[in-house]
Amino acid sequence: METTTEAGAEANTEAARFDELIAADDRIEPRDWMPDDYRRTLIRQMSQHAHSEIIGMQPEANWISRAPSLKRKAILMAKVQDEAGHGLYLYSATETLGVTRDELTEQLLAGKAKYSSIFNYPTLSWADIGAIGWLVDGAAICNQVPLCRCSYAPYGRAMVRICKEESFHQRQGFEILLTLMRGTPEQQRMAQDAVDRWYWPSLMMFGPPDADSPNSARSMGWKIKRFSNDELRQRFVAMLVPQAEALGVTLPDPDLRWNEQRQAYDLGPIDWSELQEVIAGRGPCNAQRLQRRREAHEDGAWVREAAAAYAAKQAASRAAATAEAVA
Ligand SMILES: [Fe+2]
Ligand SMILES: [Fe+2]
Repeated sequence: METTTEAGAEANTEAARFDELIAADDRIEPRDWMPDDYRRTLIRQMSQHAHSEIIGMQPEANWISRAPSLKRKAILMAKVQDEAGHGLYLYSATETLGVTRDELTEQLLAGKAKYSSIFNYPTLSWADIGAIGWLVDGAAICNQVPLCRCSYAPYGRAMVRICKEESFHQRQGFEILLTLMRGTPEQQRMAQDAVDRWYWPSLMMFGPPDADSPNSARSMGWKIKRFSNDELRQRFVAMLVPQAEALGVTLPDPDLRWNEQRQAYDLGPIDWSELQEVIAGRGPCNAQRLQRRREAHEDGAWVREAAAAYAAKQAASRAAATAEAVA
């Protein structure tokens, strides 16, 4: 009886300490006690984020072999490689919550894990690489800068490095579009067409409107999330408007205008039914993206085997050296 009471008291103390850390804007480290729901929410969010970085390499890698110059090819390769790095940091950070990288990979390959739906759209022209950098990486920055202050420390730390690289990604996208907009009428049309196709999906990256996002409030209470979906969407649009003007492209929303009274932008209606279709796996490239990821995983089996064999060999020689030293 007494031990149960003691265990109960200890659990209460730990929960109180967790609440105190959150209230004080302090950080939760992997070894700290945390509520199961907090852990589950983070595993879901962080692994979806990691998967998005990895799947997100595909639409852009599609243009590495067709980049218009050696310089553009080198920049795009570096960018796609950055995204691989982001995936790896995030898988490692997720592992600190007690799930293995193998489990996460398994969930993705089995089609059970989600990743950002934006990567299920095709990249039809070179201008799409510009539009992705400007809009998709731009939206990622708006989402991720506040995550640098996420209450779960390993996630926040991973985000600091990732955000620095994302801002380079956004600038390279802007610069591709700027070059096209200074080019021939055909190049200008290509840039505008890419912006027309990527604008609305990029707004949807912030998730459903606040009223339809029941988990948001809880994540904000835990200080995983710092701003609501609609607040972040507003910040993003506010960032885009002057940049679109500088580029000379039109954002494809006839209802978009500054509302002096609300001190915010009015936006036209977002077609959420389209997003629902893509999330449900009926987007233009869902099957192709997963198929390609599975093939890449199978093709990489020999690398994993070689790395494991090498690690075993190193461990054996370390053990032998220790045994010799002891003898
Ligand atoms: Fe990234
Ligand atoms: Fe990026």
